[in-house]
Amino acid sequence: MPHLSRKEFLKRTLLASVAVPFAPLLTQAAPLHIPLNHRLMTDEAFWAEVRKQYLLDDCVVNLNNGAVSPQPIAVQQSHISMYEQSNKAPSYFMWGEVDGKREQLRTALATLMSCNAEEVAINRNTTEGLNTVILGLNLKAGDEVVVSDFDYPFMLNAWKQRAQRDGIVLKTVKLPLPLEDDEKAVDVYRLAITSKTKVVHLTHVLNWTGQIMPVKKVTQMAQQLGCEVMVDAAHALAHVPLSFQDIGCDYMATSLHKWLGAPFGTGALIIKKEKIASVWPLLSAREPKSADIRKFELLGTRSFPAEMAVLDAIVFHQKIGLEKVNQRLHYLKAYWSERVSQLQHVTFHTSLKPEFSGAMATFSIAGMTSTQIADTLFETYGLHVGIIQWNRLDAVRVSPHIYTTLAELDRLVNAVAQLTKP
Ligand SMILES: Cc1ncc(COP(=O)(O)O)c(C=O)c1O
Repeated sequence: MPHLSRKEFLKRTLLASVAVPFAPLLTQAAPLHIPLNHRLMTDEAFWAEVRKQYLLDDCVVNLNNGAVSPQPIAVQQSHISMYEQSNKAPSYFMWGEVDGKREQLRTALATLMSCNAEEVAINRNTTEGLNTVILGLNLKAGDEVVVSDFDYPFMLNAWKQRAQRDGIVLKTVKLPLPLEDDEKAVDVYRLAITSKTKVVHLTHVLNWTGQIMPVKKVTQMAQQLGCEVMVDAAHALAHVPLSFQDIGCDYMATSLHKWLGAPFGTGALIIKKEKIASVWPLLSAREPKSADIRKFELLGTRSFPAEMAVLDAIVFHQKIGLEKVNQRLHYLKAYWSERVSQLQHVTFHTSLKPEFSGAMATFSIAGMTSTQIADTLFETYGLHVGIIQWNRLDAVRVSPHIYTTLAELDRLVNAVAQLTKP
């Protein structure tokens, strides 16, 4: 697998874009829901170059990028080189030189998520970020918190722990999925809010089905009713447009090892500047009531090379650009799902419209369990998909990434066609 320097990559990808300005559109997909920019999405020469920036396994077609995504080669190499340097004298190189890029990283993350650098804490993942806030908020017995039946279990567990420990009251709304009506979603939350509600917990992109929730609209409604709003943006970053300022929520966390392709175990917590002082840190801080976001970073020794290679993942992502990434992901989802949805016995649990889902879509096949579908897809066709078993869902989730080829998706479509053949 040839590795290109960043400069070479940029030069080559730009050349590819120029050399193939109007790549022929693919006819076999006949997508129904793509009112987007075709040129960005279907420049196959460009996307073939992008794929070369990853080191992939020939035997496993990875269609479960929603779980955790591979890192581009440039990110891995930067990580490894900082790791090797750190090992030469860890307390000198790792704590000194490598960690010296921390403020630069904070600023880069703030730019990526449209917030103030003083609002960003660098941590290990969404779970850590949201658990910090859930367990660190000043709430008392009788205070109500609204969550949904499709929020992530680790956050629901943290809220349940607070209910057991402190007597807060959890109200769980049932989301009527798939949703194609923002006002209906807002109403579902509005109906659960009472004068005792202190916090509304929202998930931006639901991991179970890929549903994009109208987080900005729900946030505005909930804040007008006097609630604070917390957003689980684990799947939003580098996948769909994400702006902390625009959403206007009070607390948000994301995982950088998902769509951004940063090293495993990297994440960020964002808190509105004026709210930082009132959130208790989960781990020891000299001044727990400080308004400095860095109080959430006193996590003890961890891998600073992994954290700092996030900078390289941001550079990689920005070279392509969110618009191009987002549109390609829409295209890939439409490419396979439009054809699979026409097969007999297949039910989709995801709206395929670009406003309501991005890269991910979830489907089931009548008469088969999720495990049977996933096992057959892997054992017979080498396709790795996610298994979704939650609430009433027993289905599989397909989540390609920007390096996924159309041939791989053809393989998926053919495999599902075989599985559903009468
Ligand atoms: C919606 C959502 N929130 C949170 C998480 C937890 O992410 P992490 O394991 O990176 O903390 C996930 C993981 O898939 C998720 O899908």
